[in-house]
Amino acid sequence: MENKYTEEFQKLAVPTNATERQQYFIDKLRVEQFGLPPKYSLQVSERELREAKPSVHKTACITTFGCQMNARDSEKLTGILEDIGYEIVEDENADFVIYNTCTVRENANQRVYGRLGVLNGYKKKNPEMLIALCGCMMQEQEVVDKLKQSYRFVDLIFGTHNLYKFAELIDSRFSGGHMIIDIWKDTDMIVEDLPVERKYSFKSGVNIMFGCNNFCSYCIVPYVRGRERSRKPLDIVHEIERLVADGVVEVMLLGQNVNSYGKNLEEPMSFAELLQEIEKIEGLERIRFMTSHPKDLSDELIEVMAHSKKICMHFHLPLQSGSSRILKLMNRRYDKERYLSLVEKLRVSVPNISLTTDIIVGFPGETEEDFLETMDVVRRVRYDSAFTFIYSKRTGTPAAAMEDQVPEDVVKDRFDRLLALVQGISRERTARFTGETLPVLVEEVNDHDASLMTGRLSTNLLVHFPGDASLIGKIVNVKLEECKGFYFLGSMAEE
Ligand code: 5AD
Ligand code: SF4
Repeated sequence: MENKYTEEFQKLAVPTNATERQQYFIDKLRVEQFGLPPKYSLQVSERELREAKPSVHKTACITTFGCQMNARDSEKLTGILEDIGYEIVEDENADFVIYNTCTVRENANQRVYGRLGVLNGYKKKNPEMLIALCGCMMQEQEVVDKLKQSYRFVDLIFGTHNLYKFAELIDSRFSGGHMIIDIWKDTDMIVEDLPVERKYSFKSGVNIMFGCNNFCSYCIVPYVRGRERSRKPLDIVHEIERLVADGVVEVMLLGQNVNSYGKNLEEPMSFAELLQEIEKIEGLERIRFMTSHPKDLSDELIEVMAHSKKICMHFHLPLQSGSSRILKLMNRRYDKERYLSLVEKLRVSVPNISLTTDIIVGFPGETEEDFLETMDVVRRVRYDSAFTFIYSKRTGTPAAAMEDQVPEDVVKDRFDRLLALVQGISRERTARFTGETLPVLVEEVNDHDASLMTGRLSTNLLVHFPGDASLIGKIVNVKLEECKGFYFLGSMAEE
């Protein structure tokens, strides 16, 4: 495809700076694939950019598996696709389908293979369709081997470290016409200032660090997300300032282990110090963060939370197991007593805080006694909610080679008992707010009943109440009238 910029654009050299290079490829695709004027590489007036219409209509659909980190990555992919000229749609019967995958548990992988079969059906009807796979699962050699062998219809495979190169990879696929595979083992690069398109106008994830150095023995994340590296505090603060100027009131600071933020910076800074800098940003109302590792949870952080007006009343503190023996095998580097004392400190300093956790059942060698230790911690801490997982063997992790894998029926029985306990406590904890009037950030129109709005308390608890869409993104006071177990029904308080 040609337009009035084609000739001039073709004379440009490909930039070497990472950000400019990707902007160049976004422009190349705009010009060549969509007949749009370039945005970054040539002088084009705001008006012309605004009024330009793509000469072809192409749709793209991104499906995200896994955690908040992946959700944020998908917002980056969306930003790049929209910049190029694609219309983002929800339906996978699109011109370009991207799966941003997760591999933390085996069933996540199985779901991807299953759905690829369906995509192949779509592609047979629309041979021009492109399919890209990216994310954590692609960092596993066996996965890529299997895709190369049995899923030849996939067009583009890339990993977690080179996601920023999305535009360049799409261009390679268009230029080369064959399957493109680009996987990096690790990276120390952090590429700033590429486009991102937020799912919500009023809240946003913000990466503060990438990778993980902990090597918990069951976990594949350090192998697929690489070594820990922190973004510079100023880059983070500037990003949040820009988000706030664009209407964001709540940020979720993202990292695999936020409590060890800043250790590898040229000028080291603690997570607690970073939070204090972020707290100063005017217009920002709520700060959340995820995920914390108990071994690095400092008194300084608890102190900062106790005095903060913006940090939410919620702490997600993964327990994984309540047995000190299993925690040692998991390489968690804390024991039951230390975990309980951290919880105690948090509860004393931030009295109404909501605590949530992750727990794995059936780690190799887990005995009934070990499991009862986990149940004991759950009873003592009384979590507001807990994500419970059945241990999943991940090839390449130390735990996969451990003896005494627990039989399936035993694990299932323990899982059911844990879930019942967790849910019972969660109901009781939720009810503690009955009758109170508390601020709610309004997020969306209720899925099931359009006369209701859905929002969240600072504790992360969901609240539904009568209202209309004009409230989305606002923080309003809601009287919590009826506890429904894991959420509340309420009504807006009079001003
Ligand atoms: N099996 C089961 N659950 C796991 N998690 C991480 N690795 C595994 C595994 N191999 C859980 C942990 C972690 C959460 C994100 O996923 O509880 O906190
Ligand atoms: Fe899944 Fe972990 Fe990757 Fe998140 S970081 S997508 S949980 S494997």
